[in-house]
Amino acid sequence: MPLYARITGTGGHLPARRLTNDEMAALLAQRGLQTSDAWIVERTGIRARHFAADGEMASDLALQASLKALAAAGRQPHEVDLIVLATSTPDMVFPSTATILQRKLHEAALAAGGQGPIGAAALDVQAVCTGFIYALTVADALIRTGGARRALVVGAEVFSRILNFDDRTTCVLFGDGAGAVVLEAVEHDGAGPGVLATDIHADGRHTGILCVPGTVAGGQVLGEPLLRMDGQAVFKLAVGVLEETARAALAKAGKAEADVDWLIPHQANIRIMYSTARKLKLPLERVVVTVDQHGNTSAASIPLALDHAVRAGWIQPGQLLLLEGVGGGFTWGSALVRY
Ligand code: ACO
Repeated sequence: MPLYARITGTGGHLPARRLTNDEMAALLAQRGLQTSDAWIVERTGIRARHFAADGEMASDLALQASLKALAAAGRQPHEVDLIVLATSTPDMVFPSTATILQRKLHEAALAAGGQGPIGAAALDVQAVCTGFIYALTVADALIRTGGARRALVVGAEVFSRILNFDDRTTCVLFGDGAGAVVLEAVEHDGAGPGVLATDIHADGRHTGILCVPGTVAGGQVLGEPLLRMDGQAVFKLAVGVLEETARAALAKAGKAEADVDWLIPHQANIRIMYSTARKLKLPLERVVVTVDQHGNTSAASIPLALDHAVRAGWIQPGQLLLLEGVGGGFTWGSALVRY
């Protein structure tokens, strides 16, 4: 019987500091910039976002989300043999944030009298807001080919660190957070739970429309280490590729649009999310929306939304989930999952 990678637990974590749109407007007013709750809500659907505290790193948020996902799966950290972490805001240039998460999981497990996942493979995936879909694709492929049995797949971001608070067109859009899933190998004939299909793509001709163009060299930051975005160019590309990749994943799994129980899109902008749902003829009630409370948390947004919908009791065992993302690179992709 073929192997499938099944989601057995989900977890999410948001930093404590929450900023409403009114609070963002007050922050920007101190810099002589004007924005309003009405503008942000109408253009994006965002009402609030969370920002990490000074010194709080992507790995710290990832640790909390991972511990919740492991608890939900009924698993201990030492049972994990693969960690794939998607981030564009890593703790440091190297080593990977996945290995830092591994150490923190080990320390947390030791404190609780257990063992951590030392020896498990650990790697970061960098595909900006499509990062979680890419990470899930990598972990799914390793599980289906016998290279791993139990994976932790995480999206964790501290985008507040790379926001330009002198650019009102971008800084109001993003937030910090982490989401995680435990993926486990299961054998069945295809009718059971698991990742049924994935579909990932990139077009490097569009690196410039959404980027943090700075780098580190000779002990100095070279170039601009803050986020830049041509919002309208991103919007136009996003609506096209999201429909394409959703249809591709459905076709690979031999499923139809009407089979989808929940659309769990990258949470960037409510207008992009609803536009995709309409193109796929999915009722808007079947779209999981957390962008209003989280803002755009990049690679964390899909697993955070998934965890929210699972814990709210919306997602039930056996249901078909269509996860999809789009982001800097330009990257995009989707995953069809039987929960
Ligand atoms: N508050 C008030 N006014 C603003 C703000 C703000 N925060 N930002 C821009 N404006 C003004 C502009 O200056 C402009 O004023 P003008 O007409 O006097 O020049 C006006 O609002 C309209 O600006 P637009 O840029 O045309 O606004 P638009 O309707 O395109 O909305 C937005 C901008 C929300 C960014 C939209 O383009 C969008 O959502 N794009 C997609 C972004 C996205 O999804 N990014 C994430 C991708 S995932 C990843 O990888 C990170």
